[in-house]
Amino acid sequence: MDPKILAIESSCDETSASVISNGKVLNNVIASQSVHHKYGGVVPELASRAHQKNIVHIVNETLTSSGIKKNELDAIAFTKGPGLLGALLVGVSFAKSMALALDIPLIEVNHMQAHVLSHFIDEPKPRFPFLCLTVSGGHTQIVLVKDHLDMTVIGETQDDAVGEAFDKAAKMMGLPYPGGPMIDKLAREGNPNAFRFPITSMPALDFSFSGIKTAFLYFIRDEVAKDPSFIELRKNDICASIQKHLVDMLLEKLEKASVEMNIKQIAIAGGVSANSGLRDGLKRKGEQLGWETYIPDFQYCTDNAAMVAIVAHYKYQKKIFSNLNASPMARMPLNIK
Ligand code: KG4
Ligand code: ZN
Repeated sequence: MDPKILAIESSCDETSASVISNGKVLNNVIASQSVHHKYGGVVPELASRAHQKNIVHIVNETLTSSGIKKNELDAIAFTKGPGLLGALLVGVSFAKSMALALDIPLIEVNHMQAHVLSHFIDEPKPRFPFLCLTVSGGHTQIVLVKDHLDMTVIGETQDDAVGEAFDKAAKMMGLPYPGGPMIDKLAREGNPNAFRFPITSMPALDFSFSGIKTAFLYFIRDEVAKDPSFIELRKNDICASIQKHLVDMLLEKLEKASVEMNIKQIAIAGGVSANSGLRDGLKRKGEQLGWETYIPDFQYCTDNAAMVAIVAHYKYQKKIFSNLNASPMARMPLNIK
């Protein structure tokens, strides 16, 4: 059997669809929502409306470019959560209607599990067990991945996510949204050792990013008080320094996790895994410590439906289907057997 599955992602501000056939992702169509830029962050109500507007043509385009007809599909997969409730509702309702109309199974997918399994879309694929640092706008987790559908969070942020720290730091500097990619870009021209920030230490494998956000706010406030042109004059150095600080916090815990779990297969995933400082830092650390490192293709770092499709493929193999009463969940545990 060669199962063909349509997957839909709508957890935040990208409307995306993908078709997978026999474990091979055929496409990954994404509509990013520019409506949020002028507000400096994602506005949930506007995100839901934009999903509603985009979803029909994104799904049609995905089916057309995959060459697969609706009636050839074997299942419909959707992101159940975590994410923005109104945004998720659009994807869940659309997927349910399609599954009902075509009389085929529905498959629900955990968004964070999908980020982890983005490593199974293309080669090279990590061997089990491996550790995955999953870093996005809403999450910062170290995940012990025992099998495709068997993973446990062994460390996570106790307050803000690292993506949020990137975005807020950018906002404090007056940079446009989304701030993470902007900091990354400016950091390339800056000195990462120009400024130092206080280290927040957390027990075990957990993280905390709220302290650095506050420290950065005071740093900017004090420097601007001394020289109103401070940000303009030192933009690149500030970005390089805050990026280095955040990346060091992530890599330090990842190293600790590798030692504690005695695992040297190390992956990163999620929007912040697109960050060049993190990608280079992981490669360097991997070379020093003898890790085998896995870094996703750029198109699979930020939100996309290809990663939802790959989870759906493994669930389909085990016949793990959802019922038509499935509801979206803004918060959702990752620990799935
Ligand atoms: O996974 P994702 O697309 O959505 C969530 O599930 O949250 O991650 C979005 C986050 C945002 O905070 C964004 O600023 C950050 O990923 N991000 C980056 C970069 N590209 C995206 N942060 C730092 N450097 C980047 N190049
Ligand atoms: Zn995400």
